[in-house]
Formats: sequence, structure tokens, C-alpha cells
Amino acid sequence: MTGELSPIDKAKFVAAKRAAEFVEDGMRVGLGTGSTAAWLVRCLGERVRKEGLRFRGVPTSTRTAQLARELGIEVISLEEAGWLDLTIDGADEIDGELNLIKGGGGALLQEKIVATASDQMVVIADAAKQVETLGAFPLPVEVIAFGQSATQALLEEALVSLDVLGRRTSLRMNGAKPFVTDEGNHILDLHLNRIGNARELALMLNQIPGVVENGLFIDICDRVVIGHGDGRVELRD
Ligand code: 5RP
Repeated sequence: MTGELSPIDKAKFVAAKRAAEFVEDGMRVGLGTGSTAAWLVRCLGERVRKEGLRFRGVPTSTRTAQLARELGIEVISLEEAGWLDLTIDGADEIDGELNLIKGGGGALLQEKIVATASDQMVVIADAAKQVETLGAFPLPVEVIAFGQSATQALLEEALVSLDVLGRRTSLRMNGAKPFVTDEGNHILDLHLNRIGNARELALMLNQIPGVVENGLFIDICDRVVIGHGDGRVELRD
């Protein structure tokens, strides 16, 4: 499954492999999106094949759903699952209090719904995702396509009163067209550089008409599994 891996892929793989061990027979498990989460799905697929592990997965994107099915994992919707025992997902940034920026892959809405509907959320990441203060990674905000420029203007205005260093916002593109999420929405990336008060920002963003959800995951993550390029793994609770 792994062959010769670059240090960054090795770090993602070892974190994913360790977290895959948290999944037990009978569990309903949220499956994240992104390159690290894809390693998790591969590791779980291997456990299904080799050990006969039986669990049901709720994917957070069409990409993850497709990969999970290809690897023989039973896929169900969140509606069918009702509630989840565990969600395992990647992240773009993780601070000292396990608050996150997510949505680099554009799946933040389903990811947040699934993580919040879980008894436990575990994040898997390479060590470079750990930061002292969130914000160097552009913060993704999912917005309705209707009136998106007006939403963007309101959002930029609202940022003025907040403890952030940068205020530029950009519409995420896919070639010449706006990037479209699985829910048919657009993404605005907020280039804030440093987010002084993530909780306040998250609340403010979701009050703007047109904003569907933001990529700040505050008090949602319970545990982080950090992988290193040399194969070491660290757990943080
Ligand atoms: C997708 C996400 C991903 O979990 C995040 O972007 C990390 O991705 P990767 O594991 O590829 O670095 O939030 O919306």
C-alpha cells in the first residue's frame, strides 16, 4: 500500500494508521476528506480485507465516498447512521487547544456536521500542521452562490472590527470558474495571517447572511494524532 513514501506522506500515513486502530467492530465512523484522510480510508480498507473489521463509514465528501466504496468499506449516510461513535479527519492547522482550521479541500460543511454529530473527533496530521496561533492558512468560508459578491463585501467590512492581521478575501477558483462544493456553494478564502480570537470570529462569520459555515472548528476536536516523517507518532488530548 505504501511503497517508497516521501517524508510528508510517511507522516500522514503513520498518523492515519495509528488512528485507524481506534475503529472497532460495529462502530459508525465519520470519514474525513483530504490527502491524510485518504490514507485513513486506505488503512481502514486494509483492516476490512485482512482482519474482517466490520464498521459503517459516513463520508464527508463524494471523493471520500468513492474511495471508501472502492476499498470495500460499507458506506452509509449521516441520516442512516443517526449519530456517530467516532470521526477521523485531517486539518489544515491545529493550535494548542486543539482548535482547527479546516476546509482546504473544500469539504468543511459536511466535515463540521459529521464531526459535531460524533461522540469523538480525532484529527490526523503531519507535524507541520501544528501552529501556535491559527490564521497563516487562509480560512475557508462556504457561501451561497446567490449574492456572493455582496456577502464578500459584508464579510470584509465585518473583519475590520476583529483581531486579525490581514483582511483580504478571495473567491476560490477551479480554473476559470468558481470552485463549487458538494453542496453547490462557493468558497471564500480569508487571508487573515493571524486570528487573535477564533471563537469570536467563528460566531461573527456565521451571522452574515449568505455564509453557510466557516472552517474554524472550535471545541470540536478531542484528540490529535501527529505523524512524523521518520515514522514517529504522537498523541495529543
Ligand atoms: C478538507 C479538509 C482537509 O482535512 C484539510 O484540508 C487537510 O487536508 P490534507 O490532509 O490533504 O492536508 O479540511 O476540507
